[in-house]
Amino acid sequence: MTEVIGAIHQFHEADYAEDWARRFKPTPERLHLFETILQQLDSAIPAEGHVVELGIGPAYLAEYLLTRLPQISYEGVDFSEPMLKQAGSRLERFGARVQLQQADLLQDSWTANLSRQPAAIVSTWALHDLGGQAQTSQVYRACAPALPEGGILLNGDFIKPDGTRHPFEAGRFPISRHLELLEEAGFSATRCLHLWEEEIEAPTSAHNYACLVGIV
Ligand SMILES: C[S@@+](CC[C@H](N)C(=O)[O-])C[C@H]1O[C@@H](n2cnc3c(N)ncnc32)[C@H](O)[C@@H]1O
Repeated sequence: MTEVIGAIHQFHEADYAEDWARRFKPTPERLHLFETILQQLDSAIPAEGHVVELGIGPAYLAEYLLTRLPQISYEGVDFSEPMLKQAGSRLERFGARVQLQQADLLQDSWTANLSRQPAAIVSTWALHDLGGQAQTSQVYRACAPALPEGGILLNGDFIKPDGTRHPFEAGRFPISRHLELLEEAGFSATRCLHLWEEEIEAPTSAHNYACLVGIV
């Protein structure tokens, strides 16, 4: 049987969440994704802007951004208590600049509960886990009205690369479809900034992630 490219997670279990964080310490490629997001934020948002991260997990991206953008405030949303615990420990030194919100991106009114209006919403390796195009679209549609005019969404997520013969889980779909969904949600200037670890012939679940951007 042909293997479907994807993964099944137990993010609500503490041991699994800790093991995930150990296995996925940022590689040079992922650090390049973080740097790409940083460069966009640096040019697109005010120095003291509020950044919201969806599916913050162990907060590797958050730590990278909070260190390099010293005046931003940051709010991480995640439904996993063990992941939020790890994020809280990793980000403790940033004090009042950081808030964490436990919420399910599909079930809860996370936008209504934000502490401040965000100048940017960011995410890495998370939205594909919501289950498919309809679910990603639901989140894109929630993000657009939460941002001010000129606000930016940056989603660095797993996609299905063009030209592959392999089946992918439904949450991983082509870049062109992401851009359509972003436009349908109300974003303009949508584009893909980069595709990392592109692998068409023998992909694994850790290959093929792209940084998609849209502006309100
Ligand atoms: C694969 S991890 C990625 C973590 C982090 N963004 C990173 O790149 O290291 C996906 C994260 O999204 C969270 N997540 C998945 N589905 C979610 C949902 N429906 N609502 C909120 N968070 C969710 C998980 O708990 C987990 O922390």
